[in-house]
Amino acid sequence: MKAVVLSGGHGTRLRPLTYSMPKQLIPVGGQPVLGYVFDDIAECGINDVVVITSPESRGPVSDFIADSSFDLDFTVVVQDEPNGLAAAFGLAVPYLDGGPSLLMLGDCLLTGGIKHLVDDHRSSGAAATILVREVDDPSRYGIVSIEHGRIVALLEKPPDPPTNLAIVGVYAFGPEIAESVSAIAPSARGEYEITDAIQHLVDSGGLVRPAELNGWWIDTGTVEDVLAGHERILSDKRRGGPPVSVHSTASVSDCELIGPVVVDAGATLSDSTVGPFTHVGAGASVSGSVITHSILMPGSKVGNAQVRRSILGRDATFLGDGREGWHHLVLGSDAVVESQVNHSG
Ligand code: TTP
Repeated sequence: MKAVVLSGGHGTRLRPLTYSMPKQLIPVGGQPVLGYVFDDIAECGINDVVVITSPESRGPVSDFIADSSFDLDFTVVVQDEPNGLAAAFGLAVPYLDGGPSLLMLGDCLLTGGIKHLVDDHRSSGAAATILVREVDDPSRYGIVSIEHGRIVALLEKPPDPPTNLAIVGVYAFGPEIAESVSAIAPSARGEYEITDAIQHLVDSGGLVRPAELNGWWIDTGTVEDVLAGHERILSDKRRGGPPVSVHSTASVSDCELIGPVVVDAGATLSDSTVGPFTHVGAGASVSGSVITHSILMPGSKVGNAQVRRSILGRDATFLGDGREGWHHLVLGSDAVVESQVNHSG
């Protein structure tokens, strides 16, 4: 079985961050979401991964793969236009050698693992096995309808949901999916939908089964989702490891660190309170500030400010004026924002 990871798309809901980086590489809880996806794939015993990128994300995603130490063989394929998940998957089909595949979305953060889904799929011989999870408000999600253990319909945000089982965004497929992907037409929003391809599989008599996720999941599509995922990953880490993790080459002086906090190599913290739920990336600096529930990407700077629920892109700078009051910021790479006090009254 080979894995296919979709890391294209425009990421419009995460602008300005996504003007200069793919959303799948935003560090969430200390690591890009794509890193968690690759970890889950490796845990299933899969070695080959086809990664679909946009033309802009091909470089950064290839660099991330080259700089990391995943024990996986990667093929990177560019999707020229983000015309849907089924279209993106279709580009990977020639690399699957007519065999089964595991499809994952590169911005989908989940816990609990997916090995059981892959094992279920292998042992049942189904045409598709879909990861689902119970949700409280099913009318906001893609939902499956089930009869006698088989998925019989996939419904997008149904007003009258037949189950509360939402589609997470992880799928195991038999080779039959290739034909369904090429058989569908674009949806009303002009995209080739993976749910339409799976519905085609169902309608052609294919066995499509659910497998339940045992943890939580968040699609990191918006700033709120990214911060929520960041907080959840760091609270899980707090249970499993040290609440304050500071790299040996970071410099910390006159600071209070409130875990969970992750401070990467070469970061500089002085005269500040940092945390909880904060990740300070490599070479970033914080001085004379209070910062909580935030992500500071490598090389970013915060000075003289109270900052919470914020994301600073690579080498972005925020300099406050030292006055009381919280700032909630999203700065793209290299942005510089300085607060100035006008003392003339
Ligand atoms: P989405 O979040 O649905 O799409 P998007 O990335 O274009 O975001 P936005 O709505 O903010 O503009 O995509 C889910 C995942 O699938 C994400 O990792 C991007 C990827 N994707 C592709 O690789 N190709 C595509 O054609 C689309 C639509 C998404």
